[in-house]
Amino acid sequence: MSLIQPHGGTLINRLAEGAEREELLASASGLVKIPVSNRTVSDLDLIGVGAFSPLTGFLNEDDYRSVVENIRLANGLVWSIPITLAVTEEQAATLLVGEQAALVGEKDGVVYGIIDVESIYKVDQQHEARKVFKTDETAHPGVAKLYERPNVYVGGPVKVLNRPKPEKFNEYYFDPSETRKIFAERGWRSVVGFQTRNPVHRAHEYIQKCAMEIVDALFLNPLVGETKSDDVPANVRMKSYLALLENYYPKDRVFFGVFPAAMRYAGPREAIFHAMVRKNYGCTHFIVGRDHAGVGDYYGTYEAQDLLRSFPPEDLGITPLFFEHSFFCKKCGSMASSKTCPHDKEHHVALSGTNVRALLRDGVCPPPEFSRPEVAKILIEGMAETAAASNN
Ligand code: ADX
Repeated sequence: MSLIQPHGGTLINRLAEGAEREELLASASGLVKIPVSNRTVSDLDLIGVGAFSPLTGFLNEDDYRSVVENIRLANGLVWSIPITLAVTEEQAATLLVGEQAALVGEKDGVVYGIIDVESIYKVDQQHEARKVFKTDETAHPGVAKLYERPNVYVGGPVKVLNRPKPEKFNEYYFDPSETRKIFAERGWRSVVGFQTRNPVHRAHEYIQKCAMEIVDALFLNPLVGETKSDDVPANVRMKSYLALLENYYPKDRVFFGVFPAAMRYAGPREAIFHAMVRKNYGCTHFIVGRDHAGVGDYYGTYEAQDLLRSFPPEDLGITPLFFEHSFFCKKCGSMASSKTCPHDKEHHVALSGTNVRALLRDGVCPPPEFSRPEVAKILIEGMAETAAASNN
């Protein structure tokens, strides 16, 4: 009944339930405790529900080195982002290969999971940064996050005992097993996934709708985990997505659910990761536009597309749909890209993210050719609230 095989062929399920969960929880109290950040809890949970299939845990040394060097797991499956558990040297000294440890929230003390320690290894974070992010500069937000973590990693399969609870918008959280079931029930044979960490502006809407012309449905799947501080907060974005869907999208051909992962800003490598994960959620197609998951000038506009193209299609298993930089052309009187518009740049409505944020902060709606007024209104209100909260 499934539309598409999960990455590696099996949808991983590492959620402990019922008696197994009770037993593991009881045994956890006697285990060494590894304090974990919200970001690691998010990775753990996404492993648990199979969003990161075929991963059954945090990468062990062989897989880590293979992912960093070759963009593949040791068994050859494509995997681009190292999903790792970092511990301090002191912590590492308390762990033994072959034993278990409890993964405990550093802020709330909740036992989120248990890991079977398979390997404990020291890494060269600068090397990892250069390979994964193509830079070792701390100005890159993904690299900065990487360097914040200690440089000893613990690999091995996990079991999830407790799941993080969303503060808001609970009803838009779906596990891959659920989205797969829903897509199948609706009779959708092809579903295109859309990743975003931004409000959906006209260019996003345009490429989604171009894709919707050729597939059965759209899975609008915004990332709502940790993002850098100057990205629009997820709660504000959520309201803007709902307003957009209400006013401009056909209800029977769109499914809306969040992707509770942290943003890495790893550009091309993250595009591959985003595609594999959406395959696990049941998408057959995945949109990759300009500078996917990029930040600053670290990646070329179409570098993510080029990296995806460099893999044999059967190794990806999901079909990427590539889009050129899109804009509103006043002469065409419509959204367009260089593939469809013959006019000069002066006729294009082009606003940078920075321009738009400045307008919104001043309470000014960007032009309707850039953003739907319903979306702009919510963003202006959201930015005012965020600013008021940070001044208090
Ligand atoms: S991302 O970090 O999540 O990739 P963003 O939310 O801006 O950032 O982009 C979501 C998707 O839309 C990505 O595939 C990106 O390449 C694409 N995209 C964003 N803006 C444009 C645009 N103007 N033209 C074409 N594609 C775009």
